[in-house]
Amino acid sequence: MITISAAFAEPESIVSERKSAQPLAFRAFRDTLFGPSETETGGKRLAKAAVEARHVTKAFGDGPERVLALDNVSVEIRENEFFTLLGPSGCGKTTLLRLIAGFDHPTNGSILLNGEDISHLPPFKRPVNTVFQSYALFPHMSVADNIGFGLEMQGKPKAEVAKAVDDMLRLVRMEELKNRKTSQISGGQQQRVALARALAPHPKVLLLDEPLSALDLKLRKEMQIELKRLQNETGITFVFVTHDQEEALTMSDRIAVMSAGHILQVGSPREIYDRPSERFVANFIGDTNLMEVEVVSVSNGRARLRFASGAETEADMPEGMSEAKSVTVVVRPEHAQLAGTGDNGVLSGQLENVVYFGTDTHYHVRLDEGVLFTVRAQNVRGGAEERQPGARTDIVFSELAVQVLRD
Ligand SMILES: Nc1ncnc2c1ncn2[C@@H]1O[C@H](COP(=O)(O)OP(=O)(O)O)[C@@H](O)[C@H]1O
Ligand SMILES: [Mg+2]
Repeated sequence: MITISAAFAEPESIVSERKSAQPLAFRAFRDTLFGPSETETGGKRLAKAAVEARHVTKAFGDGPERVLALDNVSVEIRENEFFTLLGPSGCGKTTLLRLIAGFDHPTNGSILLNGEDISHLPPFKRPVNTVFQSYALFPHMSVADNIGFGLEMQGKPKAEVAKAVDDMLRLVRMEELKNRKTSQISGGQQQRVALARALAPHPKVLLLDEPLSALDLKLRKEMQIELKRLQNETGITFVFVTHDQEEALTMSDRIAVMSAGHILQVGSPREIYDRPSERFVANFIGDTNLMEVEVVSVSNGRARLRFASGAETEADMPEGMSEAKSVTVVVRPEHAQLAGTGDNGVLSGQLENVVYFGTDTHYHVRLDEGVLFTVRAQNVRGGAEERQPGARTDIVFSELAVQVLRD
């Protein structure tokens, strides 16, 4: 037995390398369409900044009407990355995209592409293309003519345009509708045409400004998968804008969470969800239990924390907060469990509300210190009987579930 499994075992390095490389078929297809990427050597991808914003400020208007749409924003977006700008309406997402595209210019700071300052370049000289929320297609023109429009404008030879259009039709799976007018195809199909048109000139970076928001839920889910596939197959850097946290979590390699002209945190979906750096990020993404806790001691960046219940735990302390006497911590509802009373729970209280969701059940517990705490439990067939409102309960969670916020 041991010999057989050893024959299949692979060194850790090979496994992790394969994970980061794209499947061969995808890469071959991409290379025919876009040519091999220079940074891809021996199947290893180097993390190089494709787009960089350096201390970018953008102000609109003057005097009392002045709006600071972006306030000293710095961010690096890597080559081949599916990067998402996530934040509520008005936080500056579109403004940042427009600066990258060149439709507008920073008040201060600079935009770099592959390490070169492109702040002075007009939009058509940047290897960047945009998919707008309104697809902005020409309704009286065919699908094929819409896709080829940009290339025609660039004065490319007819045969070259025709081939690029066919490649793009194949890429977005629209070959059959090639000659249809875009006024005679569905919203989802229009979205594909808009994508194909933006991809046809082989941009290095594709900017997508809430491209799915006009679609109904089912179509939206389909297009999410479609977009991921397109990004994988083309290897183009995608900068995607959304206000939908679930969309951001499921699609992105990394997410920048924005609020009021600032980028608050950049990280993988898991980092953003499990380790939110501050209250806004914790609240904006997923459900949260927030609690004020006492700081008992801090040593080497680890804090000993005491809950109002008297229970103690340890957690990492954000930099520069070692002097704090109390901090806010977040615990996700699915990272906590109900326990019997006297089970030595971290918290205790009374069950106030039980909400059944099919896949899971949410328990709202009024803690003895008066705060409401939610526990989310996955429902399993033949699982324990649901607890009834009014019952006393303890709540338990591991110290790994506790994240200190930099308020
Ligand atoms: N051309 C403009 N003139 C004045 N204010 C603007 C202009 N464009 C954007 N803003 C303001 O800048 C802020 C950020 O806008 P925007 O980047 O469109 O946000 P988002 O795309 O995140 O919804 C908002 O307060 C918006 O009203
Ligand atoms: Mg916007």
